[in-house]
Amino acid sequence: MIKPEAVAAGHTGKIIDMIISNGYRILALKYTRLSQEEAGVFYAVHKERPFYGELVDYMASGPIYAAILEKDNAVEDYRKLIGATDPAQAEEGTIRKRFAESKAKNAAHGSDSDANAEIEGNFFFSGRERF
Ligand code: CMP
Repeated sequence: MIKPEAVAAGHTGKIIDMIISNGYRILALKYTRLSQEEAGVFYAVHKERPFYGELVDYMASGPIYAAILEKDNAVEDYRKLIGATDPAQAEEGTIRKRFAESKAKNAAHGSDSDANAEIEGNFFFSGRERF
C-alpha cells in the first residue's frame, strides 16, 4: 500500500517508479479508501498494540493505493526498498527515508511474509483484477 499521507502529498508516481525500477512487476493496482472497519481488519494482527487505534484512524483517513507486486525474493527485497518502520532509522534511498513523515505516517506498507502477502492481496483484489 501507498499510505494516505504519501498519496495526499503527491508521492504516488515517484514511489511506483521506485518499485518498477527495482524490478517489480505490478500484478494488480487499485486506488481505494479503507473504512475504519476495513482498516481494523487489515491490521488486526496489531490489535493489542498501543498504536492500533491511531493506525486504524490514519489508514482510513484518505485514499490509498494497493498493489500486488511480483519479483524473486519479493517480500524481503521490498522490505529493504521501503526501509525501517521509523523513517528516522530508514536508510538513504529507501521509500520511507524519502517520503515518510513519521513512524505512523510512514508512506508505504509491505507484507512481512509470502503467507501474509497472499492474505493481503486477497483482501484487496479478486482474481479478475490481477494479471
Ligand atoms: P506497516 O508496515 O504498515 O505495519 C504496521 C504499521 O503500524 C506500521 O507500518 C506503522 O504505520 C504503524 N506503527 C508501527 N509502530 C508504530 C508506533 N510505535 N507508533 C505508531 N505507529 C506505528
